[in-house]
Amino acid sequence: MATVISGKEVSQKVKGEVREKALALKEKGIEVGLAVVIVGDNPASRVYVNSKKKACEEVGFNSYEYALPEETTQQELLDLVEVLNNDEKVNGILVQLPLPKQIDENAIINAISPDKDVDAFHPFNVGKIMIGEYAFLPCTPAGIMELIDSTGVEIAGKSCVVIGRSNIVGKPMSMLLLHRSGTVTVCHSKTKNLKEICQNADILVAAVGRPNFVTGDMVKEGAVVIDVGINRMEDGKLCGDVNFAEAEKKASYITPVPGGVGPMTIAMLMKNTLTAAMIKNNITE
Ligand code: GUN
Repeated sequence: MATVISGKEVSQKVKGEVREKALALKEKGIEVGLAVVIVGDNPASRVYVNSKKKACEEVGFNSYEYALPEETTQQELLDLVEVLNNDEKVNGILVQLPLPKQIDENAIINAISPDKDVDAFHPFNVGKIMIGEYAFLPCTPAGIMELIDSTGVEIAGKSCVVIGRSNIVGKPMSMLLLHRSGTVTVCHSKTKNLKEICQNADILVAAVGRPNFVTGDMVKEGAVVIDVGINRMEDGKLCGDVNFAEAEKKASYITPVPGGVGPMTIAMLMKNTLTAAMIKNNITE
């Protein structure tokens, strides 16, 4: 039976460290600020934005919410981003995705100053991640690395399989594992022999967006299984991409949904916002 990795616990530890450093900055007269922008009223986005604001409070940051109506134009949002890029109180800018269909997400991401891009979505920061020289961590993959490290399992030389190739999770995840000398396979909807590839994984990261996609027979005995899925079921419950009941019988460590990867993403966002403030003020540790 697997040990369940508590994202709640690991995220508390990360946020505790961020809070200590934020307090030290406050003593120097420096306040840390995160601008959170939400367009429209997607209920899932509202939940995420509220969690991000709450996390800011926990670690002692100022948060500034900008809630814009569904019919906001791309130019109006670009204008707001420009204001925030120039706002001294704002160290990090988070524009919650997805955006309404009249707005091109890439145009917005490209407009955010790379120095304030705490999601690490701007092509400049994505490029930095590629070469392994980065200030901002891609939040979800970096949170997953913390979870894997919390188990004490070595990554170097291990067979790491990532299911999903999104810009937010799959691609940066594969890079971070590669930087730590994992042997990385990225699978997606066109992958042949998915089951066999997964059966070989010492570390399996599922970021597919399909409930219970990873079944017990796909999990290697003793594997570390990380479930990035947050699928809302008809009964309102959250369900991961991994069939937990089956996978936990074979894994050595496994993350639950909820309470696994989710809280880590927000903790890493706080870490990035702190980093932005430290860089801006030329503070190294
Ligand atoms: N929507 C879903 N995940 C994310 C995220 O990590 N950042 C932003 N800005 N929007 C999201």
